[in-house]
Amino acid sequence: MNKIAIITGASKGIGLALAKKMLSNGFTVIGTCRDGKISEIEHKNLISVKLDLKDKSSIEEFSKFVAERFNKINILINNAGIGPDLGKSNPEYESFENTFKVNVNGTVFLTESLLPHIENKGKIIIISSKLGSITNVEDAYSVAYRMSKSALNMYTKILSNRLKNSIFITAIDPGWVKTEIRISNLKNAPLTPKESAENIYTYITSEFESGTLWDTVHGKKHHW
Ligand SMILES: NC(=O)c1ccc[n+]([C@@H]2O[C@H](COP(=O)([O-])OP(=O)(O)OC[C@H]3O[C@@H](n4cnc5c(N)ncnc54)[C@H](OP(=O)(O)O)[C@@H]3O)[C@@H](O)[C@H]2O)c1
Repeated sequence: MNKIAIITGASKGIGLALAKKMLSNGFTVIGTCRDGKISEIEHKNLISVKLDLKDKSSIEEFSKFVAERFNKINILINNAGIGPDLGKSNPEYESFENTFKVNVNGTVFLTESLLPHIENKGKIIIISSKLGSITNVEDAYSVAYRMSKSALNMYTKILSNRLKNSIFITAIDPGWVKTEIRISNLKNAPLTPKESAENIYTYITSEFESGTLWDTVHGKKHHW
């Protein structure tokens, strides 16, 4: 039996690269995005499903689908995220609200609804960012994005305390990656999605310590 991974936001960027990597390593991947189409992958073990993290009923519908179709999930990778205020200096109401709805509310309540379906000793991965580390803040930009990732870091720690190693959870900094989350990343970021996915895969398939923020580029813990 293949191991089963859920990857949110698998239509492009880091999530797409991670889906390819996991499929090539024998996982069955349940990949999600808003329209449910992952056109870049054709693989018999990919199951593409619609999920809009801004929409509570979409989260409920997806969890129901998982419960009905699968016995147990081995690994949940909360990758989907947005950053409309990346590089901007002042918060703006609508994009702040959207960022929190997707990155925080969506990730937290998707995880909570899937918890009963994750195997004992299974894993939850939260693709966070070093931009969510309070110790490391050196600029005055990206208020909503940074705050959303700090919130996810806190959730990682709280959930690791609640689950007490029955399920392992880690927050991941994937590095600075050439993706459309910020168009300038495509030119300026040093890592390709494939390179980032390789680093992430190595870490999340290891016996990692629960409840940390892991820097996949330098292979060490970040300060919170
Ligand atoms: N790129 C970087 O340098 C970097 C650095 C640190 C952390 N990260 C984190 O890495 C993760 C992946 O980002 P990326 O850079 O790969 O970005 P990306 O290329 O823009 O991909 C984002 C993914 O999220 C999905 N998504 C967007 N809105 C959604 C919603 N409302 N509901 C469900 N899915 C939604 C998108 O799918 P659809 O649009 O098809 O629905 C897409 O698959 C994010 O959590 C990001 O914060 C990225």
